[in-house]
Amino acid sequence: MDSCKILFFLILRLLFITVPSIQATPAKSKLFREYIGAEFQHVTFSDVPINPNIEFHFILSFAIDYSSCSPPSPTNGDFVVYWDTKNLIPSNVSSIKADHSNVKVALSLGGDTIQGQDVTNAIKSITQIVRVYNLDGIDIDYEHFTADPNTFAECIGRLLLNLKQSKVVSFASIATYDNDSVQPYYLALWQKYGHLIDYVNFQFYAYKKGTTISQFITHFETQNTNYKGGKVLVSFGTDGSGACSKLQRQGKLHGIFIWSADNSKNTSFHYEKQSQTFLASSK
Ligand SMILES: *[C@@H]1O[C@H](CO)[C@@H](O)[C@H](O)[C@H]1NC(C)=O
Ligand SMILES: *[C@@H]1O[C@H](CO)[C@@H](O)[C@H](O)[C@H]1NC(C)=O
Ligand SMILES: *[C@@H]1O[C@H](CO)[C@@H](O)[C@H](O)[C@H]1NC(C)=O
Repeated sequence: MDSCKILFFLILRLLFITVPSIQATPAKSKLFREYIGAEFQHVTFSDVPINPNIEFHFILSFAIDYSSCSPPSPTNGDFVVYWDTKNLIPSNVSSIKADHSNVKVALSLGGDTIQGQDVTNAIKSITQIVRVYNLDGIDIDYEHFTADPNTFAECIGRLLLNLKQSKVVSFASIATYDNDSVQPYYLALWQKYGHLIDYVNFQFYAYKKGTTISQFITHFETQNTNYKGGKVLVSFGTDGSGACSKLQRQGKLHGIFIWSADNSKNTSFHYEKQSQTFLASSK
């Protein structure tokens, strides 16, 4: 190589090294998350298409803290696995993570009762499940509450703090939707413990069908304000690509999640493929 060529390559390298650091805009999110296992549709991790060029989270749903017999009774913070354990067993988690380095697996708490003294039991039982299943993260998906918002916030906050401090989990999310009997709980949690919550899986599909792109963006902005400084992820019931493109152009798309693999199996995972292709192609 003559010196002129070497100089050329040096300049080229310099350009590639310095240009990204000049631009202040962070890399676009390529996070895709999917709930799995709640509806016992015999769906397995390997059924779900996984694009190698994105960050992929499976969220096992649910672990619950009440017995599944009828009538259900509280278990005093002792969480038990209540997903499709015929098809989603610990060795399947290890396999899917070994086969796909971009996959992480979380568990979702769909509980009812946790409060006060139960937090110690919750920490113990969840730690046990996370270790057995080799999980990475946790999601809070309570929709029914027995305590008041502040008690809920305090108990879940202490749970998250403990699980993160002891490095049992490396990321946490909350799943909420626009409902007057649900949001106050999550807003109370956010206000006090928002710094422990990495993602807000906001269920935009809970809005009525036929929501236009501009209505969707308005809802998104409202929730972005509610969960200030948080990464509000989008989800949609039907085709949401228009709203996603718009948010992405504005640098506001922090990722997409879908409920759920169980429901998508019979439609050949159409939206999973579409969403991941979209995220993978974002620069
Ligand atoms: C899950 O693990 C079990 C036991 O190792 C295995 O028989 C089964 O084929 C696995 N399922 C998938 C989809 O990998
Ligand atoms: C809020 O959620 C509760 C419990 O799931 C439900 O009964 C109620 O209809 C919901 N309210 C609205 C306005 O959607
Ligand atoms: C697919 O399966 C889900 C879950 O069983 C069901 O709710 C949904 O209606 C089914 N959709 C189609 C198109 O068959």
